[in-house]
Amino acid sequence: MSLEKTNVNRSDAELLGILFSYVPKIAESKQLDSLLVLIADLGRELVLAERCSLWLVSSDKKELWTKVAHGCDEIRIPITAGFVGYSYANNEPLLIEDAYNDSRFDSSVDKNSGYRTKAVLTVPFKNSVGEVMGVFQAINKVGGTQFSKDDLNFLQLTAVYSAKSLESAMLFQELERTQEEITLILGAAAECRSVETGNHVKRVAEMCYTLSKYAGLSEGMAQKIRLASSMHDLGKIGIPDEILNKNGKFLPEEYAVMKNHSRLGYEMLSHSNCELLRLAAEIAFSHHERIDGKGYPLGLSGDEIPLAGRICAVADVFDALINVRCYKRPWSREQVIALYQEERGRQFEARLVDILLEHLDEFYAINDSMPD
Ligand code: C2E
Ligand code: SIN
Ligand code: SIN
Ligand code: FE
Ligand code: FE
Repeated sequence: MSLEKTNVNRSDAELLGILFSYVPKIAESKQLDSLLVLIADLGRELVLAERCSLWLVSSDKKELWTKVAHGCDEIRIPITAGFVGYSYANNEPLLIEDAYNDSRFDSSVDKNSGYRTKAVLTVPFKNSVGEVMGVFQAINKVGGTQFSKDDLNFLQLTAVYSAKSLESAMLFQELERTQEEITLILGAAAECRSVETGNHVKRVAEMCYTLSKYAGLSEGMAQKIRLASSMHDLGKIGIPDEILNKNGKFLPEEYAVMKNHSRLGYEMLSHSNCELLRLAAEIAFSHHERIDGKGYPLGLSGDEIPLAGRICAVADVFDALINVRCYKRPWSREQVIALYQEERGRQFEARLVDILLEHLDEFYAINDSMPD
């Protein structure tokens, strides 16, 4: 090996070191976005490129898209664009010395970024049923030299190794999206039966998310609670119209019927194998319980009430109070604050009331962003 060459290529020990540092992270990563960034970083380190990106085919097969590490945006290009598009369409790797001397080059990205692409490697890779699922691309060898055949092989191996992880992350993402869609459909189903709830479930969902984040829950858990809480009143679809939409205050026997909505929602949701729907069932069941044990349906108290239910209770009542309902006018800000101070540690968990009152403007802003 010449001295010049060792400057721009990895030694075997370095290669192993890099591989062993990435392999476990790639194997563990379930989220598609972070996986794309990880694999791109691995490729970049292996072939010593200035930039590396992993392009995936969109579901409609009209575009290729990628995520970049530090700019958090998604980039999309037409499926036929540039070297990546060529590599995809022809299932053929490319090793380009000077992009600007090649008619397949799409210089629009350079024009937007002010970047100067010179050397390019592209490698198409396949899913487990043999369809090309994307293209791995490296741009500009560090030090300004050319990529080698070895570099192309490294990129190809990285792509082959990563394909399985990528496929399962894509499936996982699809599963999450399906769950999200079902959740929103069910939440809306409860809403359309009732005349005045309007955007109530969506607002409660956003408020639950915000409460969850301030309560210190993880982003993932907060997202789950956001989605699941949109079904908190699903059981109202089982309540007769004349009660659900009664113009005015309930008689005690009407109120008793309405209270069944907690249990009804739980019964509809609790048989699911889907984790999100089971969380929704828990929220439907427990969102009218009170910390002091005087709520319904069971009269659970304190920590016996699931956290997601305690969170939903704070958001649900807040939304009911500050908006107009068929049975009540909106309350003033002062009245709302007074109620939460009064019910702190009684109807509602004290810590959650503190969060609500401390960030009250933010909760009003959520309300204003989704008017009835
Ligand atoms: P919702 O409209 O989503 O209200 C959720 C919760 O907000 C209520 O649960 C209650 O805890 C609180 N809330 C609403 N308005 C007031 C109020 O004026 N004062 C106080 N202190 N709290 C209030 P709740 O009571 O278990 O009611 C469950 C659902 O039953 C309500 O959901 C609403 O759909 C219905 N509902 C309750 N009372 C009446 C009523 O008098 N007339 C009619 N038509 N519907 C009612
Ligand atoms: C797509 O399937 O079109 C892209 C999905 C994504 O951006 O995550
Ligand atoms: C695709 O569906 O082909 C793109 C991956 C995804 O966002 O699900
Ligand atoms: Fe309710
Ligand atoms: Fe509600």
